[in-house]
Amino acid sequence: MQTRIIFVCLGNICRSPAAEGVMQHKVDAAGLQDRVKLDSAGTIAYHAGDRADSRMRRTARRRGYNLTSISRCLTQKDLGTFDYIVTMDDTNYDDIASLIERHGQTGELVKFTDFCRHHDVSEVPDPYYGGDDGFELVLDILEDGCDGLLNKVRELH
Ligand code: 4NP
Repeated sequence: MQTRIIFVCLGNICRSPAAEGVMQHKVDAAGLQDRVKLDSAGTIAYHAGDRADSRMRRTARRRGYNLTSISRCLTQKDLGTFDYIVTMDDTNYDDIASLIERHGQTGELVKFTDFCRHHDVSEVPDPYYGGDDGFELVLDILEDGCDGLLNKVRELH
């Protein structure tokens, strides 16, 4: 059995590609790469075809994560393809919840921050218009939540 997880933010150039990169690193380290398939997407197509934001890639690289994904917009098909649709903030969650209402789904819609154990936050804050600190904070939250998500994946296998 393979668990399919897609991380979703607004533009798919900052938070969700970083979540994918951090989670892939943890999945590989756990030897679960054959059991878990990861992807990421945005709720808007504005940055479709772009690499992750250079600030996000640089901050991630300093922590040992290589962000390779190319931005794309979430599709109706994704709703049925993935077991877990993991959103970064409340707007992403609400946008996808209304998509699901209209189109139906088979995957479970979940908030990323529900997997955090050390950060008492309800959203992964959008770093796009802020400074370097914002990108570091995103990675702090992502590392925390990906540990929690990895534990959930382990329970499934
Ligand atoms: P992300 O960040 O949703 O984490 O990829 C953003 C990327 C682009 C924009 C906003 C947030 N934008 O307004 O273009």
